[in-house]
Amino acid sequence: MIALGSDHAGFPLKTELKNHPDSIGVKYKDFGCYTPERFDYAIAAQKACDAVISGECDKAILCCGTGIGISIAANKVKGIRASACSDYFSAKYTRAHNDANCLCLGARVIGVGLAKELVDVFLTTEFEGGRHQTRVNQIMAIEAGEKLY
Ligand code: RB5
Repeated sequence: MIALGSDHAGFPLKTELKNHPDSIGVKYKDFGCYTPERFDYAIAAQKACDAVISGECDKAILCCGTGIGISIAANKVKGIRASACSDYFSAKYTRAHNDANCLCLGARVIGVGLAKELVDVFLTTEFEGGRHQTRVNQIMAIEAGEKLY
């Protein structure tokens, strides 16, 4: 299950992604917003990311105007590694190297076609582990309040 979330600016893109053909067998749960009325992105980010951390959902896909505000909010949820991506390479390697569990998209930055490609590659790329696991462990250590130096 994939958690979806957006603010009002990301709402049209999120709606398009919900209609994305289910070619890779993915089910979505939408954590809002549910109308195009003003809705602040931190609320959607926290709701969707809490569902990832609880295990209800495997990953989150979040949309706002730039993809940035909602990614900053998502990264405040302990255990979330959120990446704002607008190119294929970044969406692929934030999975392969960072084990990102949240993809953030800017509805005012990219088109629907590219967004669907980024979702597909993000959801189908495996984390490579190895030396990258060491780095992810360091990120989690910072989150836990440890000093790396
Ligand atoms: C909303 O107008 C806009 O500021 C928001 O969607 C996002 O782009 C913030 O990062």
